[in-house]
Amino acid sequence: MTPDYDQIINEIYNELKDASDEGTVADYIPDLAHIDRTKFGICLTTLDGEQNKVGDADEKFSLQSVTKVLSLSLVFSQLGNKVWDRVDVEPSGNGFNSIIQLEYENGFPRNPFINAGAIVIADMLVSLHKDPKAVFLNYIRGLCGNTDIQYNEKVALSEKSVGYGNYSLAYMIKSKGNLVNDVDEVLDFYFWQCSVEMTCAELAQTFLNFGETNVPFGHGNYMLTASQSRRMNALMLTCGFYDESGEFAFEVGLPGKSGVGGAIVALNPLRYCVSVWSPPLNVKGNSYKGMKALEMLTTKLGRSIF
Ligand code: DON
Repeated sequence: MTPDYDQIINEIYNELKDASDEGTVADYIPDLAHIDRTKFGICLTTLDGEQNKVGDADEKFSLQSVTKVLSLSLVFSQLGNKVWDRVDVEPSGNGFNSIIQLEYENGFPRNPFINAGAIVIADMLVSLHKDPKAVFLNYIRGLCGNTDIQYNEKVALSEKSVGYGNYSLAYMIKSKGNLVNDVDEVLDFYFWQCSVEMTCAELAQTFLNFGETNVPFGHGNYMLTASQSRRMNALMLTCGFYDESGEFAFEVGLPGKSGVGGAIVALNPLRYCVSVWSPPLNVKGNSYKGMKALEMLTTKLGRSIF
């Protein structure tokens, strides 16, 4: 029997809506420092097309690191396993913006979801396309089935103006010979990529593509095989929450990805995709209520991917 997803997400929303949370919003990106911390939305969309929404599920927010899954999928569709010559597929056990492993691991980032790895993926996209911003936007609009997806230039420029940590990562990678293009050009694309905005409903729809792990998917010339789709899920499960990936697998048990805009998207392949938006973050940079809401979801359903 299909669970009553609508009732379950409403229960979770009502239990958590006014719960106090200890998180803080991502104020290291000046333009994100003033987001309303009380925003809270959930959307669960099934592979059969049933959409269940509650709270602020139709309000746009900054995807930030959630976009790293989308940039990887685009590059993976083009380069196949050559991607792994320059980025590894191991959890890092360090924070998303950490630089320490990069030096002693010779500029070879542990995975494509930490900032260092996503910067190398951005470098690949800059090499592959004359106008990577246009190609990336068109690709994710196609996955979402919605042409209303946009970059937020203000957020991109705001992050760029203080992006010293990411500049440090990019220069370290460059010094080790794993960045082909100009640091400025690569980071410009990276900051724009992170600034993409979606609603919870759009985000769940976009990531539903990764749920159909038995069929190829993509948009236009950029198609992932079913095997590549399964590998994307494996990476989300092992690396999607940085040094909290183990905790997320333990508490929630779904592949997923977080972003410092307060979003978490997760999926139970072949069943549903769920997105949550709540801006306050825990110390690992993951949405505090988002983690809690998804833990409640798989507990109430009595089923994760395990
Ligand atoms: O590069 C950064 O720091 C941000 N644009 C993205 C970081 C992020 O979303 C980490 N995730 N939870």
